[in-house]
Amino acid sequence: MKINLSLPALPKHIAIIMDGNGRWAKEQGLNRTAGHEKGASTVRDITIHCSKIGIEYLTLYAFSTENWNRPRLEVEFLMKLLERYFKSELKIYLENNVKFKAIGNLSKFSSKLQKIIKDTEEKTSSCTGLTQVLALNYGSRDEIVRAVRKLNDNNLEVNEENINSSLDTSFMSDVDLLIRTSGEIRISNYLLWQSAYAEMFFTQTYWPEFSTDELDDIISDFNKRDRRFGGL
Ligand code: FPP
Repeated sequence: MKINLSLPALPKHIAIIMDGNGRWAKEQGLNRTAGHEKGASTVRDITIHCSKIGIEYLTLYAFSTENWNRPRLEVEFLMKLLERYFKSELKIYLENNVKFKAIGNLSKFSSKLQKIIKDTEEKTSSCTGLTQVLALNYGSRDEIVRAVRKLNDNNLEVNEENINSSLDTSFMSDVDLLIRTSGEIRISNYLLWQSAYAEMFFTQTYWPEFSTDELDDIISDFNKRDRRFGGL
């Protein structure tokens, strides 16, 4: 069942830089890992909500190409958390008609995690509601370089259309609304090409505390923006 928020128009594609897990945990007197754990439950809440209100694409920055530089134990924890997440989430995806897709260079992950990701993509491939996209070992510059290499290898002309269709995100529309939590005001190598005309929102809220109510408020504000795409 879809909830009617009486919104004049919904963004088709919402992208979120989920930031502030570590700071949230520190403020609670907890380990950083507890922040990631709570962050994973926010991922579930926001995904279910986006599916209910009729968003088409939700792209979440779950692990960047730079995140490998974190302490080894934190990286290991995040890898295990992802494995656990996919195992428990399959049921949630199917119950909510959510299709799952991954973007990023997956070849750096363990073969076990790569297989879980591929299986989850396959098992949700016939879902027709929200597409939840997790950016995993994702960096926008890395993605653009890989796309241009593909064109080069296939002797294709380098133009906007061909770059678009060679990006990991070729199956979806451009970002309409880009949100970053935790008070940082930068886009950190996330969907640079796809956010060319995105409306941006930065909130002080740490990701583990980001709520569906706050998302609804942001969507209402998004509706007040005058999007001109370079025109008048
Ligand atoms: C930023 O918090 C968050 C990340 C490293 C990536 C997002 C990860 C999650 C939400 C948890 C796992 C996700 C899934 C899909 C299971 P930070 O550690 O940079 O926080 P800080 O800036 O306060 O240190």
